[in-house]
Amino acid sequence: MRVALLGSGRGSNAEAVLRAQQAGQLGAAQVVGIYCDIPTAPMLALGPKYGVPAHYLDPGPFKTKFSPEQEAFWARTLVEHRIDLVVLAGFMRVVKAPLLEPFAGRIINLHPTLLPAFPGLDGIGQTWRANVPEGGCTVHWVTAEVDGGAHLGQTKVPRAADDTPESFAQKIHAAEHALLPRVIAELAARPASR
Ligand code: GAR
Repeated sequence: MRVALLGSGRGSNAEAVLRAQQAGQLGAAQVVGIYCDIPTAPMLALGPKYGVPAHYLDPGPFKTKFSPEQEAFWARTLVEHRIDLVVLAGFMRVVKAPLLEPFAGRIINLHPTLLPAFPGLDGIGQTWRANVPEGGCTVHWVTAEVDGGAHLGQTKVPRAADDTPESFAQKIHAAEHALLPRVIAELAARPASR
């Protein structure tokens, strides 16, 4: 199962997936490319570090969505690279038909909340400000509804009395780093997903 990691920033979740791959924990899944929509994204440095091609691809002029032409270009590139599974790992752009259609049922997203709670931007901040007893993270199929597809895995993170926004965020990130590689390995083990 040829996997593409798409991201926009730090890339700590992409790195967790690459570490799991190095440790032989991804089963039949193999990361064959890193794709960023921000030319200065630290995530691009993971390419040389882990020996995986890393690409900046132009998303078009908008901040949180693709232009239709550039979204079609991303889709063509991923098809040319024979990608089986597209993993949105900190990819801060809405995905629409030009990418969804060729990869229907083959795109997953990581979100730092217990969906359906707190979809959209700043999920951890939303969870913290709502003062709920627990937060967490979710991996789900990507559909046209933002953060709305069926769930593949979820981890709960209780909020401790002495948590700060920073410590709570750190716990959620640690949960993400375990959840995302696990879900990818599970998908690679499903005969229907190959
Ligand atoms: C992660 O917390 C991920 O869940 C979130 O961005 C962060 C990326 O961190 N994604 C979203 O909020 C998507 N809506 P990373 O670049 O260190 O992996």
